[in-house]
Amino acid sequence: MMRRILLALSFALTVLPLAASEPASAPPVDAGRLPVLGTTWLVANPYRQQAAATEAIALGRDAYNQACARCHGADASTHAAPAPDLRNLNRSCRRMADPDLKAWCQRDNDAYFAKTVRHGKIIVGVTHMPAWDGVLKQELAWAIQLFIEDRAAAK
Ligand code: HEC
Repeated sequence: MMRRILLALSFALTVLPLAASEPASAPPVDAGRLPVLGTTWLVANPYRQQAAATEAIALGRDAYNQACARCHGADASTHAAPAPDLRNLNRSCRRMADPDLKAWCQRDNDAYFAKTVRHGKIIVGVTHMPAWDGVLKQELAWAIQLFIEDRAAAK
């Protein structure tokens, strides 16, 4: 019992801060096959329901597994990871029947996703998630989002 508590404690004190303090580094995934977006961030996912979506999901999976999986879980399909299950992000939008409301919800969700990825989650000086602005190309960020949504739909 005591041993378990000690183990849990040492995990919390060593592994979690280590993971969190690791800086963001660009996943070696070639976004070249996706339509180029440039450096000014868009406010909504430009690939959703477009011809590029299938390609984006495949590249997004690669990039996700290299950049996000260590905290958010392999293939965005497990919930054993320390960070939130990202499949829940668009849960309320997915359930909406009204197409206008759904589109509005999705835009809001896109803006939140982009903001979080760009600036990370730094809470009272502690980096829970590193910032990806200038590290992760926005093409790959939007591709990762489509991959997560694809996993969420399959859940
Ligand atoms: C070092 C660990 C770590 C890495 C790497 C990481 N995240 Fe996070 N992320 C977190 C943690 C922890 C939170 C929750 C922060 C909080 O609210 O306390 C989070 C929160 C988020 C949220 C908000 C979730 C919500 O429910 O509000 C999004 C979106 C997100 N991460 C996307 C990503 C993406 C995309 C990547 C890969 C490019 C990534 N994260 C890489 C640790 C990480």
